[in-house]
Amino acid sequence: MRIIAVLTMVTKPIVRRAGEERNRCVTGVEGLDNILNGGIPRGNTVLFTGSCGTGKTSISLEYLVHGAIDGENCLFISVTEASVKLLENIIPYEFFDDSLIKKGKLVFVDMPVIYNKLGLVTVEFTLEDVDTLVKAIGSIVKELDIKRLVIDSITSVCYRLKTEEKIREFILKLGKTLSELGCTTILVSEISPTAERYSLYGVEEAIADGIVLMGNLERRGDLLRTLQVVKMRGTQHSRAKYVLDLTPCGVLLVPLLKGGSVSSGGG
Ligand SMILES: Nc1ncnc2c1ncn2[C@@H]1O[C@H](COP(=O)(O)OP(=O)(O)OP(=O)(O)O)[C@@H](O)[C@H]1O
Ligand SMILES: [Mg+2]
Repeated sequence: MRIIAVLTMVTKPIVRRAGEERNRCVTGVEGLDNILNGGIPRGNTVLFTGSCGTGKTSISLEYLVHGAIDGENCLFISVTEASVKLLENIIPYEFFDDSLIKKGKLVFVDMPVIYNKLGLVTVEFTLEDVDTLVKAIGSIVKELDIKRLVIDSITSVCYRLKTEEKIREFILKLGKTLSELGCTTILVSEISPTAERYSLYGVEEAIADGIVLMGNLERRGDLLRTLQVVKMRGTQHSRAKYVLDLTPCGVLLVPLLKGGSVSSGGG
């Protein structure tokens, strides 16, 4: 009897009626929302992983800009590039609107600034430092009521954590904190073109709620960009490979047909 009572207690909050859908964070990248049956389940932490130049930063910025246009507060934490330089790259995109920055709907913060403010100056962080960093990011998200966050890249943060234990602790705690705040997060992950895993340390991919894999595909002397949703907790989705086109209007996704040709229909 007691065991049944305990089990009921544990399972009750997560029981969902048949057909009941989790609230979605519509990315605004139409092809991706179609693949995900309406968007990323709200509160998920998703790894956008791929080798260099595959469009990770571009698609992440587009996700934030669409959120900001829809009235959500959005934050980009830049670890690898200075955000001033980053901005120069997105200004040419038609979807970009610099008034979103002036209105505070779209906020850019450089991670080194956060490290300095927290006094995290050592090359390798301790478990305590991990805790401090998660709390600091959580506070910013709470204070600014951020609903969409991008960290570009999580791989660069992991360089300072070094061990699997600390990486696991960081991503688990961060994911839990942000999910409780109703924030949907993209963690950009950098891998080599020949990598057999979805993340550098292997830990990131196991903990993340979703993995969106971006890559390159050589086709008749051209290097196509590709995108594939490998996993996404909380929704059904296609696992097909799409061709990703970075156009002045933003990311376009077109199904890649078997044999490698590109479909004429939209994603
Ligand atoms: N305004 C633009 N319009 C169209 N294409 C662009 C624009 N800006 C950048 N690109 C293309 O996007 C590519 C880089 O995309 P992006 O920076 O999103 O990739 P990434 O995966 O984040 O790269 P990295 O691994 O270097 O961080 C460039 O090589 C360029 O071809
Ligand atoms: Mg990038």
